[in-house]
Amino acid sequence: MAIIVSFASAALAVAAAMLGPVAAQSTTASCTALKPSYSAPSIASGYTAAPVATGLFKPRGILFDTEGRILAVQQGKGIVGLTLNDAGGTCVSVKENKTVVENKDLNHGIALSPDGKTLYASSSEEVFSWIYDPSTGTVGDNKTLIKGMKNSDHVTRTLLLSQKMPGILLVSRGSADNIDEGVVDIKISRSQIKSFDLNQIGDKVYDFTNDGTIIGWGLRNAVGVAEDPTSGAIYSVENSSDDLYRLGKDIHNNNPGEKLNFHGYLNGTKTAEQGGNFGHPQCYAVWDVNDLPEHGNLTVGKQFAINITETVNDDFCQKERIAPRLTFQAHMAPLDIKFSADGKEAYVTFHGSW
Ligand SMILES: *[C@@H]1O[C@H](CO)[C@@H](O)[C@H](O)[C@H]1NC(C)=O
Ligand SMILES: *[C@@H]1O[C@H](CO)[C@@H](O)[C@H](O)[C@H]1NC(C)=O
Ligand SMILES: *[C@@H]1O[C@H](CO)[C@@H](O)[C@H](O)[C@H]1NC(C)=O
Ligand SMILES: *[C@@H]1O[C@H](CO)[C@@H](O)[C@H](O)[C@H]1NC(C)=O
Ligand SMILES: *[C@@H]1O[C@H](CO)[C@@H](O)[C@H](O)[C@H]1NC(C)=O
Ligand SMILES: *[C@@H]1O[C@H](CO)[C@@H](O)[C@H](O)[C@H]1NC(C)=O
Repeated sequence: MAIIVSFASAALAVAAAMLGPVAAQSTTASCTALKPSYSAPSIASGYTAAPVATGLFKPRGILFDTEGRILAVQQGKGIVGLTLNDAGGTCVSVKENKTVVENKDLNHGIALSPDGKTLYASSSEEVFSWIYDPSTGTVGDNKTLIKGMKNSDHVTRTLLLSQKMPGILLVSRGSADNIDEGVVDIKISRSQIKSFDLNQIGDKVYDFTNDGTIIGWGLRNAVGVAEDPTSGAIYSVENSSDDLYRLGKDIHNNNPGEKLNFHGYLNGTKTAEQGGNFGHPQCYAVWDVNDLPEHGNLTVGKQFAINITETVNDDFCQKERIAPRLTFQAHMAPLDIKFSADGKEAYVTFHGSW
């Protein structure tokens, strides 16, 4: 099992592979693994890690195509395809490096259809698709699928193509500000994850605001979105606000918590969470309860109000807004979530605080 991680600032990719109980080290002699140019991250026991590729420009979304090629979106540049020499374990290096799409507007989102023959990517404003040939790593002409997503501040548009429900594409659009007052109005389609049915698109171009179905709203910036491969459950990880006050007290060092949210299923079975409001900008998840003035019986993960009024208060936040399934320390900045193939584990990357 290997996990490829992209480091936007260091422009490097790293593979971590779990070793069996009797890990064979014999490949290390012939391995010409790259040495990290940065101080290497520490690795949990049972894992090893090594860089796979250098020379990337702001790599963001990454995936494997059906031939085992890495496709990586380089923010402000396009999509690169990397075929690999694989000598086992973490001894993986680039064999061939080829430009797949050259476009400076692409900035994060990437997805492949379950048959591996349609490639999707996003800019801040639009979602595109291409017919993709995995045997050559080349694309045909692009098609615009969704438009109308432009806003300031949070400009990435994470894409998740359901593997359970073919043709259903989820798109995550963040807020236009640290605290985006506008998004209390559901018709302002920022801070939302929406689903779009590509089976029905024909020659249309969907408009993000007027088309699609709301999977969740009140999401400040849900950059990571994933589907549990066994149940089809949809989860997101959400980067929450900075510089918050409650009742005039600065609470920003240890609140609010960052979030892992549950969004229900795409197969038509309804849950209370699906289409619900997750809080932004009125309600936030508790991390350090003792740091919150008038915390009453709040506990970690419960939603609290920052500006307490008769109508918008902790009670409202708990009854009318959906609490996270997991809460992380303030400012950990989760940016992606991936499931193992059996759906029994999820992996979350964290950017970490400023
Ligand atoms: C791919 O090749 C280009 C052109 O030689 C180079 O600038 C870039 O750094 C290479 N990228 C990777 C990931 O090897
Ligand atoms: C789509 O194709 C048009 C026409 O060739 C091109 O101008 C545009 O840059 C392409 N967009 C993307 C995202 O590749
Ligand atoms: C949708 O998926 C859930 C979880 O896997 C399952 O419990 C439910 O029965 C499914 N609904 C339909 C209509 O298939
Ligand atoms: C995450 O939130 C922090 C503020 O807590 C902000 O500085 C950072 O830019 C955000 N990153 C993303 C990707 O939303
Ligand atoms: C909370 O109150 C502050 C100070 O009056 C204001 O600047 C901010 O916009 C309010 N936030 C919300 C979500 O109402
Ligand atoms: C504490 O919880 C109880 C029971 O859920 C509720 O009735 C009460 O209003 C809560 N108190 C505060 C201060 O939130």
